Amino acid sequence: MDVLVTGGTGFIGSALVPALQRAGYRVSVLTRQALPGDNGVRYVQTLAPLRDAPLDAVINLAGASMAGKCWTQRYKRELVASRLDTTVALIDFLRERSAPPATLLSASAVGYYGHQGDHFLAEDAPPHPGFASDLCRRWEQAAAQAEALGIRTCYLRLGVVLDAGGGALSDMARPFRFGFANWMGSGEQWLSWVHRADVVAAILFLLDQPCLSGSFNITAPTPVTHRDLCTALRKHFRTLPPVPLPSVALRLGLGEMAEELLLAGQRVVPGALREAGFEFRYPALDEALEGIYGG
Ligand SMILES: NC(=O)c1ccc[n+]([C@@H]2O[C@H](COP(=O)([O-])OP(=O)(O)OC[C@H]3O[C@@H](n4cnc5c(N)ncnc54)[C@H](OP(=O)(O)O)[C@@H]3O)[C@@H](O)[C@H]2O)c1
Repeated sequence: MDVLVTGGTGFIGSALVPALQRAGYRVSVLTRQALPGDNGVRYVQTLAPLRDAPLDAVINLAGASMAGKCWTQRYKRELVASRLDTTVALIDFLRERSAPPATLLSASAVGYYGHQGDHFLAEDAPPHPGFASDLCRRWEQAAAQAEALGIRTCYLRLGVVLDAGGGALSDMARPFRFGFANWMGSGEQWLSWVHRADVVAAILFLLDQPCLSGSFNITAPTPVTHRDLCTALRKHFRTLPPVPLPSVALRLGLGEMAEELLLAGQRVVPGALREAGFEFRYPALDEALEGIYGG
């Protein structure tokens, strides 16, 4: 089976690509980087070399980091273009092929739901407006063009992916490493997290289930508040008593990004995955952090 991964060099892709290879897939990765391909992966910088290559599935992960920088107007344009332009180009490429792949798994995020307080959010919850929510909605709409080509399409509404060596946890745990425990703002905002191993397992599961399509929340079944995360992290680091980071400082320093990603959150549950019979290896945060930092 041949699979193409866009954005396959990133935090998720760097765990997913070897897992796909171990599962017997031949993997191509669309990347802006010139990479040697000495690991059995075919790296391409445009889709043209794959026009006549066999292709059974596509996993669309490319996108500039939402949490990496302040959302200036310029960076917002990059956030949008890196997702929408890549997805539109991908769909055009799939349309031109004589044999479209059977499956497209296209990334989205729990930011799709916007801010909905303490409500549990399954896949049928409507989005609430905001920059991240509007972007996810447009990203999913762009990917949905694959459905008209007869391609089974799944939208991966990813929670905050946790693991060692990158992603959000590296940033969130940094003060704890230096002995300072904190949460942001009230600490009551929800964090829908998921261990990277479960993201990889969920993607392999969805690839392997030809009858599944539509939206899938890829989040652990137990979302936590930022205060809960602080308590859980303190079990792994010797820290002073927690000192909350005031909302006003975060808003002043990081603007809209802080407002949408750090001071607000979503309480998302993986309804569709569980209904389909997917079992999480790390359903609870304490187990996930033990897996990451050692018990
Ligand atoms: N990690 C999370 O917690 C999380 C949560 C929710 C949603 N997601 C979504 O899941 C996807 C994968 O996440 P990730 O954590 O693996 O992301 P990541 O580490 O930031 O990697 C994404 C990949 O996208 C490509 N990329 C970056 N900027 C780009 C640009 N301006 N134009 C085109 N491609 C660009 C890069 O590939 P090259 O440099 O090789 O081109 C990069 O390796 C992302 O789209 C992200 O929004 C992630």
